[in-house]
Amino acid sequence: MTDTTNDFSWLSPSGDFAFGFSKLPNSSNLFLLAIWYAKIPSTIVWHANDGIPVPQGSSVKITTDKGLVLSEPSGIDLWSTSADLTDGGEVSYGFLYDTGNIVLKGSNDNETVWQSFDHPTDTLLPSQQLKVEVKVNSWLSQTNFTKGRFQLHLIPDGNLVLNTRDLTTGFAYGAYYTSGTNENPEIAGQRLVYNESGYMFILRRNGSRQDLLPPYKVESTKDNYHRATLSFDGVLTWYSVPKASISEGCAIGLGIFIYHKRKLRAFDEGQRQPLKEYSNVHRFSYQELYEATNGFKEELGRGAFGVVYKGMVSGGGPPICVAVKKLDRMSGDTNKEFKTEVNVTGQPHHKNLVQVVGFCKEDDQRLLVYEYMSNDEHQNVRISDFGLAKLLALNQTHTNTGIRGTKGYVAPEWFRHKPVTVKVDVYSYGVLLLEIICCRKSICMELIEEEGAILTDWAFDCYQSNRLDVLVNDDREALNDMLRLKRLVLVALWCIQEDPSLRPTMRTITQMLDGLVEVPINPPPSSISITTQNYIS
Ligand SMILES: *[C@@H]1O[C@H](CO)[C@@H](O)[C@H](O)[C@H]1NC(C)=O
Ligand SMILES: *[C@@H]1O[C@H](CO)[C@@H](O)[C@H](O)[C@H]1NC(C)=O
Repeated sequence: MTDTTNDFSWLSPSGDFAFGFSKLPNSSNLFLLAIWYAKIPSTIVWHANDGIPVPQGSSVKITTDKGLVLSEPSGIDLWSTSADLTDGGEVSYGFLYDTGNIVLKGSNDNETVWQSFDHPTDTLLPSQQLKVEVKVNSWLSQTNFTKGRFQLHLIPDGNLVLNTRDLTTGFAYGAYYTSGTNENPEIAGQRLVYNESGYMFILRRNGSRQDLLPPYKVESTKDNYHRATLSFDGVLTWYSVPKASISEGCAIGLGIFIYHKRKLRAFDEGQRQPLKEYSNVHRFSYQELYEATNGFKEELGRGAFGVVYKGMVSGGGPPICVAVKKLDRMSGDTNKEFKTEVNVTGQPHHKNLVQVVGFCKEDDQRLLVYEYMSNDEHQNVRISDFGLAKLLALNQTHTNTGIRGTKGYVAPEWFRHKPVTVKVDVYSYGVLLLEIICCRKSICMELIEEEGAILTDWAFDCYQSNRLDVLVNDDREALNDMLRLKRLVLVALWCIQEDPSLRPTMRTITQMLDGLVEVPINPPPSSISITTQNYIS
């Protein structure tokens, strides 16, 4: 069977799903060979050809030896299922089920030789299962369907993980979510199941289940469309929408439907299993890092905790560029803390945090290996020293002479002979966040006589008097998204609390920034201006 792009689509028996050429929204003559909700035209749940669109006049057919074949207008084959057909598969026909699965059947009627459910793109549908090492990949962006930065998969040890990947090499970085179903090989996870009723769980080797979401009521799959999609920004989201509302919506005219979102709460501490030692980052030998950095030759910079060198490592694939930080000033008994930090810093993913990809612990050497961001590549400010404060020897943290950092970012306890904890970094982060929000420096010498001189105080006053417009200097883009702006300012104000115990942890901060947890309102004022002014003078 052959068809051209012109209005071709193939419907499932109920008419719920369509397979064919979906026109890209912002292009008049580019099409994606895809499966989508027939009644919600732009909601693509699967696509062929690695997400690369094809021009008008392209065609798709089913052949005995290759299965589905996508050809460009001149007749040249662009993509086919041939390499993935199960052994000796001879295709006799294809069928689009009401589940949204396209199945190719062999000559023996009941034998499935290929199905789209075994080759997911960014979406899982009820009745779909994910075997070990089959990956769900996010799109690159909202409009580019090629593989993006995020992936969901069950790794061979039984853990379900969400991790980032290098766009050019595919190198997998540390996970930012793990299910913890790898603690015991006999009951390790072996399959991710999204069952017919819309429940998702990890099926363990002994047949028991680990629910992926806290118990919640799932609306019937008969009356609702369900899907789980790994969005281009790395959030795994469950969607459901009443089928009835779709028909109404269509009568009125991804597009005016409101979905009920259920987000996976990564880092939900109550649910977490204990992390295995160094579960998500690679362990390097000192020799490997010595070679990777060419003998610690090229210095990238000096941070509060050591010198950072440029290097190249191979993660089983092509080499990637890394920054290797040699930590100094370690106290004697830091093994435990170091291990915790490696795991914790290896975990959270946020676009403003640099990902730890590995470490080295040999004799008294402690090194951390980060993904390397060169400034042309990423305009974002990246922050990497969080969580390392407590690795400093305690006697280094008591006196002012021990302070290494930048004026204005330093937490008040540094000056006050109070214990210095990991929360000093949270303070600095809060100041930096305010600077990003307000596009100004934390201390403005030109304004020194005026009330706006100290950013942290000024921000609090603006928040208190409900004048966030002043804070962002009437920036329209910021003001158009007032809820988000307020959330950002609130997070920052909690970070700069004078009492370190009131400052959130970096983990909570990433959740707050991503909107996964509520930010408490009404932070107490941080009365640190006196200290800060002393520091200036
Ligand atoms: C999608 O992104 C890839 C990688 O940057 C690029 O090569 C490709 O041209 C993009 N496709 C479209 C349709 O924009
Ligand atoms: C799907 O899983 C839920 C929760 O484990 C269960 O109650 C339901 O019966 C399952 N549905 C099917 C069709 O197996």
